[in-house]
Formats: sequence, C-alpha cells, structure tokens
Amino acid sequence: MRSAGYRVVLLPGDGTGPEVVREGRKVLDALAENGPHPWSIEECPGGAIYYRDHGKEWEPEAKAAAHSADAVLLGAVGWPGVSLPNGDIAGADLVLGMRRDLDLYANVRPCKLYPGVQHRISGSFSTVWKPENVDMVILRENTEGLYTPARGTLDRGGATEVAIDTRVITRVGAERIIRRAFEIARHRPRGAPEDGVKRVTCVDKSNVLAGCRFFRATFDRIATEFPEIEKDYAYVDAFTQWVVRNPEHYNVVVSTNMMGDIITDLAAVLQGGMGFAAGGNIGREHAMFEPVHGSAPKHAGKNEVNPFATFFAVEMLLRHLGETRSDSGMIGQADRLAGAIARVLADGSARTYDQGGTTSTSAAGDRLVAAIRGVP
Ligand code: IPM
Ligand code: MN
Repeated sequence: MRSAGYRVVLLPGDGTGPEVVREGRKVLDALAENGPHPWSIEECPGGAIYYRDHGKEWEPEAKAAAHSADAVLLGAVGWPGVSLPNGDIAGADLVLGMRRDLDLYANVRPCKLYPGVQHRISGSFSTVWKPENVDMVILRENTEGLYTPARGTLDRGGATEVAIDTRVITRVGAERIIRRAFEIARHRPRGAPEDGVKRVTCVDKSNVLAGCRFFRATFDRIATEFPEIEKDYAYVDAFTQWVVRNPEHYNVVVSTNMMGDIITDLAAVLQGGMGFAAGGNIGREHAMFEPVHGSAPKHAGKNEVNPFATFFAVEMLLRHLGETRSDSGMIGQADRLAGAIARVLADGSARTYDQGGTTSTSAAGDRLVAAIRGVP
C-alpha cells in the first residue's frame, strides 16, 4: 500500500486529443473530491502541431516527465501534412517512441459492449451484437514485429525504387506478451460469453510466415504453464470473420504487432466504435493509456467527439496503478469510475453524435462528473 503521490502525466497532443484529455482531467478531479486520491497531475504539450511550431515533437523536460511518470494519459498525435524529415508522422515520438523507449511491450485493448451503447453498420444503428456477447480483451505485441525500426528504401522516387520493412519476432518478445495474455485470462472473473470457458486465442498467419510459426510454437509452450486455460487458434484472415460472426467465443486474444493493430480496430466496431476504444501500453515499469481514435482532424475544435474512450483509458490507468502497487484505494477509485460510466451509458444521458445524440464532448464530461458525485 502506497500513500505517497503517483505522478500522472497528461499529453493532450493534437486535434481532438486536448478536447478529450480535458474531460479525462475533469473526471480525475471529480474522483479526487472525496476518497483516497493520491495522485498529482502534470500536463505537457507535444505532438505534430508542436513540431510544426517549435521544430521538435516535445521539450526534453516533457519527455523526461513522461518517462519518469507512474502513468501517462495520451490524447492523440498526428496532423495532416506535418511529418518528420524521414517521412514518419510528426508526434510519433510520443507514441511509438515511448512504446520503444519505455519497453511498453503489451498493448491491452479491452473490447466490451456496454448496455445502452449502439453500434452502426452502413450508417444505421444495429442490434446485431448483444452486450452480453461482446466481452474480450485483445493483447497486441507492442515493441517489435513489423513495427521494428529496421526498414528503408532504395532509389527513393526512382524507377527501381524498393521499400523494405523487416518483421522481427523474438523469443523474449513473444514469450512475455503470450504469458501476459494467459495471466489476464487467469485473473479475469469470467471466461468467454459463449460458454464461460477461460480461453486464449492465438491469432497469427502461421500457415505462411516463419515469425508466426515461431509465435505459435511459443504460445504452445507458454500454454503448458496454464493448464486450466483453454488454448485456441485462428489464422488472422479467418479471425476477422469469426470475431464479427461469433464475438461470444472470444475471451482473451493475443497477436503480433501489425496484426494486432488491425484486429483491434476491427473489434472496436463491436463495442460501439472507436469512440469507446481505449488502450493500455504496459511494460514492466511504465505504463501509458490512450483513447485510440486518433487526432480526428475533421472533428477537431468542434467539441463533438465521444470522450468515453478517454474515460475508459482513465479507468484502466487507475486500475493499473491499483493492481501494480497493491493499492486498494486506487482500485476503489477505478471501480467508482467504472460504475459511473456504466450508469451514464445505460441511461443514454450523454450520447455524442456518433451515438446519434447531440451531447457535446464537454457536456458528456459534465454528465459523468455528476454521476461520480452521485447524481442519478
Ligand atoms: C494504435 C495507432 C498507432 C499504431 C499509430 C498512431 C502509430 O494506430 O495505437 O493502434 O499504429 O500503433
Ligand atoms: Mn491502430
């Protein structure tokens, strides 16, 4: 149990990032009004717009603050037309850089459909997926795979141009993400919605790729440490249709970096869209949490985007600190927030445009703050 302060660093970033992080901060402040609240908050600028205006993605002090924080909440980075000299998106150092520098090897993406949340197909609201059938967590390897910075081009712009990306799968990298997936399955209170079975599904392309064969062999070996958890396999192409057709089969899913990037956004549709999708980037000593919708330039400055992904990111942040520091007060705060989020989603009182509503970003934050304070 730790009573000294946790240092939480907010990186609002670009576009809609600052709009949703502002609401996340309101929520943290509301939780701090009573009960244990041992955190201090520091906010640092950075991202693509910062790069455009200052010639650097962030200040060394901001980077140092984020790198030494107990937890980071990132809004979003990236802006059209602003890139680094090497062609990477400006602001990448706040996401890809931090994942690499702080060895945040596990990208954790819960995918749960809450009662009261609607999902769209072809522009119309649908009831294809039922809340009781969508409750999985997808683990994506976050530091290697196709994101390994071993890439380049030859004869750039020329007639014989070649571009090469190298996909690296290491024993250590595969073992730790797979072990974490099994540990999450062990600790989750429930198994798959379909049958209650605790199950980890390995998603790969091991019928073709050597790295995936190695990943799957590693999966089989680590699975022997968890005899009570069912092992399950899916080739990534087949997985994309199964997860849409039978989301109730899935409990914990683990995959490599690029495949995980794709399937997590696909799965976000099942939970009501990117407006509800939050991700944790977790290492042994550091952690960063984010709504994964990105800077959304066409919505920026309009106070209209859905802040619930950020609220879920804040909940993950509090729970992570509670669990890693054995701090029941922080777990209690995460539970309070989770309860307030579920109540507001269920009563439909804070529906933003993506949910067919007219509630603004800031009004949705106000509604959640009221719920935290006990307003029914
Ligand atoms: C994500 C994002 C990032 C990624 C981008 C912003 C670099 O899409 O977190 O899923 O590709 O990992
Ligand atoms: Mn992505």
